[in-house]
Amino acid sequence: MSRPNLVLVFVVTSLLLWGCSSSDEGLTLTASQEQQIAERIAPAGHSVMEGQVVVASPAMSSGAGRAGDDIYNTSCMACHNSGVAGAPMYGDVSAWATRLEQGIETVYANAINGIRAMPARGTCMTCSDDEVKSAIDYILDNSK
Ligand code: HEC
Repeated sequence: MSRPNLVLVFVVTSLLLWGCSSSDEGLTLTASQEQQIAERIAPAGHSVMEGQVVVASPAMSSGAGRAGDDIYNTSCMACHNSGVAGAPMYGDVSAWATRLEQGIETVYANAINGIRAMPARGTCMTCSDDEVKSAIDYILDNSK
């Protein structure tokens, strides 16, 4: 009873060893080449990682990143191009002049906090205060 088991163990073991040694050979053949390649592409790989993790994400969340016209075209134009629900329209000089009578800081604050049918930050929840302000500046620059 023990002999077939021993044979089986031997066969399995040698298959495993053969498998390991042949794949080891494969690795040994390319290990130095792989390392050279890895060293050559390493700077490119690292800069991509830095761009995604270190450079891009603060730019997305800390303001200064996106220009006012980008934000306007993405988040604000749906209402402010058409005047939905009484939104003062882009380019409407007198509508914006009336809004500005309360002072620019109040206009900024109303857009950031929301007022009546104007949703907070114009629904751009990833916009910093400065980004909302730059979108407002973009509207005002083109409405006077
Ligand atoms: C869902 C529609 C909608 C979107 C999107 C929207 N607005 Fe408005 N917005 C309004 C409406 C409506 C008003 C007028 C609210 C009122 O005074 O009754 C308004 C008013 C404003 C005002 C005047 C606030 C004041 O003090 O009178 C500013 C500034 C403004 N929006 C900026 C923005 C900016 C910047 C964006 C994009 C980031 C934006 N809005 C996106 C609907 C919108």
